[in-house]
Amino acid sequence: MYSLIMSDSVKIVFGDKSYEFPVVKGSKNERAININALRAETGLITIDPGYKNSGSCLSEITYLNGEKGELSYRGYSIEDLTKNAGFLEVSYLLIFGFLPSEKQLEKFQIDIHKESLVDEDLKVILKSFPRSAHPMGALASLTSALTAFDPDSVDVESEDEIYSAVVNLMAKLPILCAWTYRKVKGLPLNYADRSLSFEDNIAQMFFRHPTEKYKPNKIVNNALNKLLILHADHEQNCSTSTVRIVGSSHAGLFASVSAGISALWGPLHGGANQAVIEMLEKIKNDGGDIEKYILKAKDKKDSFRLMGFGHRVYKNFDPRAKIIKKAADEVLNDLGVTDPVLEIAKSLEKLALTDEYFVKRKLYPNVDFYSGIIYRALGIPTQMFTVMFALGRLPGWIAQWWEMRKNNEPIGRPRQIFTGKTDLKFVPISKR
Ligand code: ACO
Repeated sequence: MYSLIMSDSVKIVFGDKSYEFPVVKGSKNERAININALRAETGLITIDPGYKNSGSCLSEITYLNGEKGELSYRGYSIEDLTKNAGFLEVSYLLIFGFLPSEKQLEKFQIDIHKESLVDEDLKVILKSFPRSAHPMGALASLTSALTAFDPDSVDVESEDEIYSAVVNLMAKLPILCAWTYRKVKGLPLNYADRSLSFEDNIAQMFFRHPTEKYKPNKIVNNALNKLLILHADHEQNCSTSTVRIVGSSHAGLFASVSAGISALWGPLHGGANQAVIEMLEKIKNDGGDIEKYILKAKDKKDSFRLMGFGHRVYKNFDPRAKIIKKAADEVLNDLGVTDPVLEIAKSLEKLALTDEYFVKRKLYPNVDFYSGIIYRALGIPTQMFTVMFALGRLPGWIAQWWEMRKNNEPIGRPRQIFTGKTDLKFVPISKR
């Protein structure tokens, strides 16, 4: 269990009594009131829908500063990591807490490769879905089904068991992601190639044409690597909190991650990358009238929102969006692809960033605004975008799940204030 660093305290006056609660300090001086004893001492609870002001845990994994637009994994900035590291290296860093030596990374890769087969019966499950099924639904089901093939729960006290579960999931989820892609494309399901690096193997499993020898494409693989790293963790977001809360009931790693995939699917979270491209396409097909859509986004009577804009935590800029925007330009240029929606996206961003509505509310492009444009240039269908996000987020989910279990966190169980009817008397059905 972690130790709390205390600094100062906060006094709460309720009725004629005063109560004191300690303030907890993080390594970058962020502060929180520790209200562990609040209900026991005062009889009160706190209400915070959407957890806008509530911290659910202390964590050593990811730091983000929404005001300054900073994001780092285990102390390393994402700018540094996207420039210098591979996705597997970053996964190791997130999960085990330190950058691996060459030997450690090689062992990790070999161990993952050894587990890179899934039970053939999983194909039956995938086959039973219609081709039109959303890949995120298929991925969540297949990930959950992995539990049926490997039902043993993990003893979190055992480093060996944890390592084996980590390696298994890191090996198997990319296969399932690639299979959902190949199902959408109507291609035969593909297997891992142990002669390739972890990152090249992911690309191979997705893109290898059944009648051709696979040739790694540096541009594609670099773009994928960068995108996967940028999505690898983002502290206590909706899907990660889901993974932690499901895991807090001591549900297994695969079941917890499957729940995280479902949470990621929604358009207010990871599903936004699909929604952004659909929105940009709509604007293009509607004549490219950007101002009209800015007006719609500002109109409170209109349900339209500028997808890929705004973030619960970033109130200056999303550092991931900055890197992805640059990468989108480079990838399209390198691949010789011109995509009219990239120009629409840039004009939309420019206009929104000078509009009082967006400026006042501190709404900036988020990670999803430009990522879809890169996925599209790589030939990945729109419906698959959130699956790509899930693949990138996997090491983060694993790291967060493990940290939660290692810290022996209690089961997640929020309270509520009841506002329904009270003391009604049952009326028999014949008299209602
Ligand atoms: N377009 C128009 N207005 C917006 C947008 C948007 N994209 N985002 C927020 N606003 C407005 C709200 O209407 C609200 O206005 P008000 O103060 O006049 O009522 C204000 O900005 C604050 O917005 P909230 O919804 O309260 O902010 P919250 O932190 O709850 O939501 C969220 C954040 C969900 C990301 C929101 O900005 C949104 O819906 N964005 C579009 C979807 C999206 O891109 N999601 C991906 C996020 S990144 C990720 O999850 C990987």
